[in-house]
Formats: sequence, structure tokens, C-alpha cells
Amino acid sequence: MTGSGPPLGSARLDGDAGFAARSFLRSGGMTADDVRRRPVIGVCTSWSELNPCNLPLDDLTAAVKRGVQDAGGTALVFPTISLSEALVEPTTMLLRNLMAMDVEEMIAASPIDGVVLLNGCDKTVAAQMMGAVSADRPALSLGAGHRPSGSWRGQSLTIDDSWRIADERRAGGIDDAEWLELEGELSPGPGVCNVLGTAVTLAMVSEVLGFALPGTALAPAGSSSRTAGAEATGRQAVCNAQAGRRPRDHVTREALFDAWRVVCAVGGSTNAVIHLQAIAGRVGVTITTEELRELSESTPTLARVKPSGPYAVEDLHALGGVPAVARELGDLLHLDRPCASGATWREVVDALPLREGPALHRRHDPVEPRGAIAVLHGTLAPGGAVIKRSAASEHLLRHAGPAVVFDGVDDLHARIDDADLDVSADSVLVLRDAGPVGGPGMPEVGAIPIPGKLYRAGVRDMVRISDARMSGTAAGTVVLHVSPEAAVDGPLALVEDGDVISLDVDAGHLDLLVEPEEMQRRTAARPPALIDDRTATRGYRWLYVTHVMQAEKGCDFDFLQEAPR
Ligand code: FES
Repeated sequence: MTGSGPPLGSARLDGDAGFAARSFLRSGGMTADDVRRRPVIGVCTSWSELNPCNLPLDDLTAAVKRGVQDAGGTALVFPTISLSEALVEPTTMLLRNLMAMDVEEMIAASPIDGVVLLNGCDKTVAAQMMGAVSADRPALSLGAGHRPSGSWRGQSLTIDDSWRIADERRAGGIDDAEWLELEGELSPGPGVCNVLGTAVTLAMVSEVLGFALPGTALAPAGSSSRTAGAEATGRQAVCNAQAGRRPRDHVTREALFDAWRVVCAVGGSTNAVIHLQAIAGRVGVTITTEELRELSESTPTLARVKPSGPYAVEDLHALGGVPAVARELGDLLHLDRPCASGATWREVVDALPLREGPALHRRHDPVEPRGAIAVLHGTLAPGGAVIKRSAASEHLLRHAGPAVVFDGVDDLHARIDDADLDVSADSVLVLRDAGPVGGPGMPEVGAIPIPGKLYRAGVRDMVRISDARMSGTAAGTVVLHVSPEAAVDGPLALVEDGDVISLDVDAGHLDLLVEPEEMQRRTAARPPALIDDRTATRGYRWLYVTHVMQAEKGCDFDFLQEAPR
């Protein structure tokens, strides 16, 4: 090992002191040579049958092991918690920090010199990167890849269609037989969601941050290029461990800024900003809401990939993926930073053949001169909020309307389709008590359904505002991550039905148009916020609601952050 810093983990296998550990490893079938070969690379897999998005990781694990062995290292596979967006209740976000702690502590506790992180579904990518930067041992990342598209009655289906299908079912437009057919066709194979949702966005982020080899993020699940990427990742993990290349060397302020610009340029998931802020906090970097806003406003939107456009993830991959986006962003990025292969981004970009196509616009001809995710601020969101401009309706980007308020998810479900709900297409739907503490866990419920009677009348989008998150596969004029959340007495807690809320995305404003004297009166009349004692009297949920921070701090636990650099 040639890097600086503390000794790497396999030293514990050496000499007489390592006798017992070597003996136990040999009990599993390793030879005397195997247990002495260095470096030792942990393969941290989140494969689980409770997480269908991550099922391709079994084959990729074998390919990573081949790569490690080809390069002269020894690979040891170990499992961690795995979190499926589709199967975990009440929300995977509640458990992301637990998974990050699992990953961090297993890397730190194990006799390994480096690690390959194998992930897929949204939180598994974020949690592994968070844990790896805190463990600070050489780490590379590889995702499962996106699943194939489905097909139903001649129409191509991707996961973002599930929102439209659910709305049509609620409105009575899909019968039981069709519903059963769609269940089998929507997701026709393993892998992550096949649009630019959170999993794919975070895979791209992992490339930009130097965790994943350039060009690997968008290769489809099960493809030969993904298998080749896994072998290459294994080989590179040996090189990086030998060089002592640690996450804190490459997860810098510049890298985090570049990652945010790439998310804004491609119209990635709004969840990415929360995970980026959590990773930033793990390396002691503070990124303010204003900095996020400035970066977004000065980054052109270049991609037109579902759910923010008509093109497929494969189309962006065919044009060069993350390196092609980096080439177009050019001097907006820090191209002299090294990527996971050790080359600089400039070298990667210079070696990339130019391929043009409608899924990725050139810098001189952007889809939109500003970034796809706008950062908002105002009297309703003093700590900030976000909206995915690229997935919103143009005519609603500047809108003022009367609030229709829902107190939590149960209230929303109970009343959203009520024929007597006092709502019109101009109303602003407000959902509160769905933030980090109030959820708890900030569930993906921000894409509030259009009230049934309006949907049947043809309304397909409205301004919706919440302290929740939204699936990266969803679309609409949806303001998310309003901070501080209602459960910690943010202004959202004081909104009443009929209050006028003003949204101006271009100006970056989100305001509650209520006189200050009236707000003071409501504040004085409001009982103190209480943590929900049904969910928070013991165990992990108590830890969560007691220590989780707000959205602009990435919803990480306060005790896991690093002191500012
Ligand atoms: Fe797993 Fe979308 S549900 S990536």
C-alpha cells in the first residue's frame, strides 16, 4: 500500500496476531496463499430478495470478484441491509441512515483494504456512499442497472407510467382484468427503475463524485457492458487500495458542486439534493441553499429523458452517459478533478467520441437555460424548498391560489376524492406533517393525487406543496422539501384553508400571503410541537426523530456529521 493515512484493514491478518483470523478464513475454503494475498477488497452487497431492484447484484458480485482476483487481490463478499422503495414501510428514508451506519461500521470493522459497494434501489446507493465516506477506506460503487421497459397492448411502459395508470384506475378507466395484466407487464425484469428516477440519478452522482468508473452508471441491467464494468470495477478497486485513494480525497466541495450541476443538467430526481447534502455533511462541507440555487440557475438543462422528456435512459447511455454530460457542461465543472479510474475528467471527456441525439442537447442549444431543479425560498419556506421545473407545467410555474390543507397522509387519503372537497384547478394543495420528523422519515407522498372530481373533469396538474419528498419517477408542479417542516413548527404548520400561496419558480419564491400580525396570532395559538409518541418512544424510531436534521441538511443524523472543513 502506498497511500498516506492510517494503516489499512488487512494488517490485522498479518503475523502471529492474525493467526486466528487467517484460520477462520481458511475454514471457509480459502488457501494459505489466498489469506496472504493483498489487498483484500470487501464486496459490500445489498442484494436481497426483499429488494427486486437489486437482484442483478448476484451476477455482478461474481464479476467484481473476478476483477479483484485478476488484479492480484482477494475479494470477500459481505451483506448489508437492503431497502426497496416498493416494499419497505413506512418509507425507506426512515432506514437510510441505519443502512449508512451498517455500511460504515462493517467497512471499519472488517480486515479489508478497500471496498466495492454494490447497490441499486434509491437509498442503497445513497446509504452506501454516506457510510463509505465516513469509514474513509478506498471505495468504488457499482449499481444493478436499470430494468428493461415493459409493453402492454402495443404501448411501451416505463415505471413513470405507473402514476398515470394509478390515476386512471382511481377514475374507473381500468378494469380488473386490465389491472392484473398491467401488474405483470409494468416491470418485466430485475433492475432499478427504468427512467431518470432516484436510483439512476444517484448512479450518475456516484460517477461524478469519483465512486464509480466513468460510463458505468447507465448501462442496462444484465448487459454485457455492465458485467464488463463490474470486472473493471474489481480491478480498479485493487489499484485504488494500493494507492490509498480514500473517499475524502475525492468527495470534495468541487465534486459535490459538479454532482449537483449534473443532476440539474439532466433533470434528475429531486431526492438527489437531500442525499448530496447528507454526503456533504459527512465530509464537513456546508452547501447553502443559496449556493444550490446559484448553481442550478447557472446550469443549462440538457437532457430530455423520462420522466422529464420522451427519451429513454438507454438513449442517454448511447450518447456517452455521464462523460457526455460532463463534456457539454465543460467549464461549469471542475474537469481537472480525478474520476474513479485515476484519469481526470478532462482526459475522459477529451477521449469521448462525439455522438449527437435528441436525448442530450448541446450546451449551445439547451432545453432550458437554467437547471431542471429550482431551489425556492420565501415566507413559507425560510429554510428552502425545491421543485423539478423540467417535470412541471409551464403555466403553473408562476401561480397564486387558495390553499387546501391536508394534515398528514391519512387525512389526504380520507378526503382527496371527497366529492364535497372545496377545491378547484386553481387551488394549491398543501400536505404537511410528512417531513423528516412528522412523517416520520419524509415519505415520497409529495406528488399529491389530483382530487378525483377534478381528474375526471380533465385536470392533470395543480400546484402541490409539502414537507415530503417525491419519487424520482413522478412529475407535476410539485414543491417539495419545504423547510422547516410543520412538525418542528415551520410556517407550513400555520397555513389555513383559503390562505393564498404564491409560487414564482423563475424568481425562486414561495410565499404565504398572510399578514405578519395574523401569523403571530396563529403562532401564539398553536400548541407546542410534539413528537408522535406512537412511533418514537423507543429504539431506532426514537433515535431517528430525536436526531434527524431537516431537508437542507440531508436528513442525516446530527451525530454523524463531520466538523466543517
Ligand atoms: Fe427500486 Fe425504483 S423502486 S429503483
